[in-house]
Amino acid sequence: MRDNWYMPETPKAEDMLGIPISNFFSGVKAEADIYIRLSETKFILLFHMGSLIDMKQVKKYAEYNIKELYVIKTAYNKMLSKQVSVAGMIIDSKEVPALKKVSIINRVADGVYNAFSKKGFEEEAFENAKNISESVVNLVNAKPDLAKLMESLNGIDDEIFKHSMAVSFMAPMLAKKLEWNRPDTLQKISLGGLLHDIGKRELDPKILKKQRSDLTYEEMCDYETHPFRGMEILSSMNSVPQDVIAIVYEHHENSIGQGFPRRLWDVKMHPMARVVALTNVFCELIFGSINHPEPVSMKEALHHIETVMGQPFNKQAFQALKELVEESNEGA
Ligand SMILES: [Fe+2]
Ligand SMILES: [Fe+2]
Repeated sequence: MRDNWYMPETPKAEDMLGIPISNFFSGVKAEADIYIRLSETKFILLFHMGSLIDMKQVKKYAEYNIKELYVIKTAYNKMLSKQVSVAGMIIDSKEVPALKKVSIINRVADGVYNAFSKKGFEEEAFENAKNISESVVNLVNAKPDLAKLMESLNGIDDEIFKHSMAVSFMAPMLAKKLEWNRPDTLQKISLGGLLHDIGKRELDPKILKKQRSDLTYEEMCDYETHPFRGMEILSSMNSVPQDVIAIVYEHHENSIGQGFPRRLWDVKMHPMARVVALTNVFCELIFGSINHPEPVSMKEALHHIETVMGQPFNKQAFQALKELVEESNEGA
């Protein structure tokens, strides 16, 4: 009773609709009044319609383990009519129910979040990357052509799928460290990370099971076509943003012109691809891969990139990665 008297405007629970927290981003205008739920019946208005969302404010209510934010149902319909954009791709109102679908992609994502949670990254960096990654997973679930593409990758080799998800999670964390703050930029980097190896679905699975040092010359040439093939697959789908396609095409390039397929130099590389190229190698090292079967610690991975590989990646991106590791439990 006291609550009602104290906050006479608290809306009724049956009028409210929960939306997963991953659909909200700091710095984006609230398209409706947004509430937080503190108990069965108690909602607090957090952001007025038109004000800027600040996810740090949501964190103040950590003890309530908030997974969803709430809007009044009638306002939600209005929000839907405006459509949602993730990574510059529009999800229209008809596709939105698919956001709740539990797919194989969600399951792999949960495994990857769990693996990263053990790495001891600074909490805000981790949570932010998780929010970005979840929004991209939602996008893929809502777009049947993308979902089918990802699932086909899982059919070939579930390690590639897990690795792709890991890059999708880690790359926006690195980008945020570089102070790239726009949600659509971070989402594109995450989506590029998720799709970067999609061209591998066209390779002979035998090639994918061999270490690169064991490939014949012809097999190596074939292997090195996968960024180009990925670019072609995504270009044929008219909705994928150009930035994402560039990430896929350039994820094996490096800053010293010794990558493939085009041997680009740093200045010629797409800025988002510089981040994903480094993240790709880092994730192979810390989680293990065909070429590095034994996973190593994050510090050892940095050391490997510096001493064994001669740090061929973008300098700022590598510095940001070092700082992320230093700020993690492992660096402490
Ligand atoms: Fe690749
Ligand atoms: Fe990869």
